[in-house]
Amino acid sequence: MKAYQWIRTEVHGPVGLVRLNNPKALNALTPDLMRELVDALETWDRDPDIGAMVITGNEKVFAAGADIRSMVQATPVDMLLSAYIDLFDRIGKLSKPVIAAVSGWALGGGFELAMACDMIVASEKAVFGQPEINLGIIPGAGGTQRLTRTVGKYLAMEMVLNDRRLTAEEAARFGLVNRVVPVERYLEEALELARQIAQRAPIAVRLGKEAVQFALESSLENGLRHERRLFYLLFATEDQKEGMTAFLEKRKPEWKGR
Ligand code: CAA
Repeated sequence: MKAYQWIRTEVHGPVGLVRLNNPKALNALTPDLMRELVDALETWDRDPDIGAMVITGNEKVFAAGADIRSMVQATPVDMLLSAYIDLFDRIGKLSKPVIAAVSGWALGGGFELAMACDMIVASEKAVFGQPEINLGIIPGAGGTQRLTRTVGKYLAMEMVLNDRRLTAEEAARFGLVNRVVPVERYLEEALELARQIAQRAPIAVRLGKEAVQFALESSLENGLRHERRLFYLLFATEDQKEGMTAFLEKRKPEWKGR
């Protein structure tokens, strides 16, 4: 992995960890930071030794949003040509699972980055919100869409239109996070979850992720059809034969990722 300026990368066994590292601006997601983040994640997505990835900030802040400084004078054409927002889409398109380990502020683009991940582990100090309305704009990196699909119309309206923020406990109650843990454990908890998933049959994990994602964008009928195709496809893998044989032989399966 190359050296980056705005993120720190670490490999923990089969898990790639990115720490956002723009502390002077509360991890504001500058275009350069987002480019580095996507580059690191896409590199691991192609690496057969990595099975899952974790994105984190620090205990005080996950990320306080898109970088307001770099947007204040921007025109629509500047925003379009920078392809800044497209970088968030690329995180949603990674084939391996990505977990956000969130403590402190996850606001605006920071919250949208967490929601673009597949799971969220929160510390009890996490705060989630879409404060863009205070800047005279709306969320632009998925906040009106991913949030509404998860918490429903009424709460999403209050968050987007009136900067209602959620504590970690509230976020858990509304189904926005997988679990809430004490601040000293949130990163280890996310890494352990990632490690467990990374040890599972890789193609089944990949297609399972694809199937769950598809549920958010299709009718039930199409979703069921898509699920069925992926399910049948897994019977072409060596890992399906190994998994079922190992179960019947009462031993642990050895996954090949084939
Ligand atoms: N962009 C750029 N700089 C930011 C920033 C951001 N999103 N958030 C914080 N900073 C900077 C501040 O300007 C400040 O810099 P200086 O020391 O140079 O003045 C530094 O980080 C510390 O911030 P505060 O002094 O404000 O810290 P605080 O503890 O008093 O408040 C906070 C913390 C509540 C998170 C507050 O910083 C805040 O409200 N930040 C902005 C949150 C926001 O509006 N996010 C949405 C951005 S737009 C977006 O994300 C669009 C999209 O959908 C893609």
